Amino acid sequence: MNGLPSESQQVPGQRRVMIVTYGCQMNVFDSHRMAQVLLRDGYVETMEPAEADVIIFNTCSVRDKPEKKVLGSLSRLLPLKEIKPVLFGVAGCVAQQHGQALLDKVPYLDFVVGPDNIAQLPQIVADARHGSRTARADWMDRHNYDFIPLDPAVEPGPTAFLTIIKGCDNFCSYCVVPYVRGREVSKPLELTLREVGMLVDAGVSEVTLLGQNVNSWGRGLPGEPTFPDLLEAVSAVPGLKRLRFVTSHPADASDRLLGLFGHLPNLAEYLHLPLQAGSDDVLARMRRKYDSAQYLDRIRTVRRACPDIALSTDIIVGFPGETRQDFERTLAVVREVDYDLMYSFKYSPRPGTRAAGWVDDVPEAEKAARLAELQSMQDEITRRRMQRFLGRTEEVLVEGPSKSSRKGAAFEIMGRTRTNYIVNFCVDGATIPAPGELVQVRIDKILAHCLKGVPVG
Ligand code: 5AD
Ligand code: SF4
Repeated sequence: MNGLPSESQQVPGQRRVMIVTYGCQMNVFDSHRMAQVLLRDGYVETMEPAEADVIIFNTCSVRDKPEKKVLGSLSRLLPLKEIKPVLFGVAGCVAQQHGQALLDKVPYLDFVVGPDNIAQLPQIVADARHGSRTARADWMDRHNYDFIPLDPAVEPGPTAFLTIIKGCDNFCSYCVVPYVRGREVSKPLELTLREVGMLVDAGVSEVTLLGQNVNSWGRGLPGEPTFPDLLEAVSAVPGLKRLRFVTSHPADASDRLLGLFGHLPNLAEYLHLPLQAGSDDVLARMRRKYDSAQYLDRIRTVRRACPDIALSTDIIVGFPGETRQDFERTLAVVREVDYDLMYSFKYSPRPGTRAAGWVDDVPEAEKAARLAELQSMQDEITRRRMQRFLGRTEEVLVEGPSKSSRKGAAFEIMGRTRTNYIVNFCVDGATIPAPGELVQVRIDKILAHCLKGVPVG
């Protein structure tokens, strides 16, 4: 989490919060928002349980078995309560799903806060400090969604995430998101533009627009604006160097949206387009609203607009009823698309979803074997695709020092290409570029997970 006062700025007696984040990018952003509202309430952040006055577990139930995990982690921290009056809270999906029942079940838990109740966190924590245990996990009114205003004073990093739509109306048969994050609510255009402007004024160079399905942004807003309208407007915010967005649904990825790649100068050439499976039978049972031919048509369309775009995807293996033949269709589509990056998962039933009622009939060992086969195929594709950068000069947005930043007399800097690859490059101590700066880097080495190069010009 960026932007909270550092250790050196702490004053004695100041309260400290530790936030442990599981799961997706949405959760990272929610943790950030929790840190923000507590910062305004006088807290600083710590990563040390022994220092913390409040420890919050921000949980995700998309793939994990999060209840078990979070209760295990909490019980391991229980001895802290004997030393000092530390408060334990649970946030995120588990909080939303179980609410008060979780407080009733776990006597040493002090509060439960759902994703729509983050603004009330200071009050919830204050109540808990006075012995009143609260669970707040209400859905917000769909027509009056209270997005927490950004505080530019605590967003000084070079890159920032900004939620523009929360929830999801798609109800894919395996997915718990619509149940735990609720129905779609879009952030109004004017508010989004104001927030992007505030981020840029605070020094942010790159903004990633965030949502479970950003493509359906605008539904339900006055005048029914569309996501391409929003992208065009955000892209024109003065001073915004780079714009990205995640996640997209293939069925909602319109020609107009895909045509913006290679057209809006600051829209980075990277698209995450979850395929989930290559078999049309499996896609139909997943209720994905597209078949493999329609998906491949989206890929061809975006590549026509922007041939060098980097593509990534999500795949689930071992969905109920997935045969070896079905799985081979997934391999075939993955091979045909030639992704830069893949996130792949073994199917696990999520309570309350449609697929949870079906027999989870692919044996665990078979799921693991399919996952390994798919991942080793993708590793090879990624390695090959990275080679295309050798000798090219890439625009790199500097994020900061690399992990091994001091190299003799030189400093190593870490940044990302427009296509979202990590690049490390060395500069001498006199010319260290600032985070957020764009540097032209000639790529001269391809490593397993990143590119290396030398700054030019
Ligand atoms: N089992 C396995 N993977 C899942 N995902 C979502 N639900 C499940 C599940 N029940 C994966 C999908 C989604 C990503 C965020 O998590 O691939 O795109
Ligand atoms: Fe889940 Fe499907 Fe919505 Fe993605 S689009 S969040 S997989 S229901």
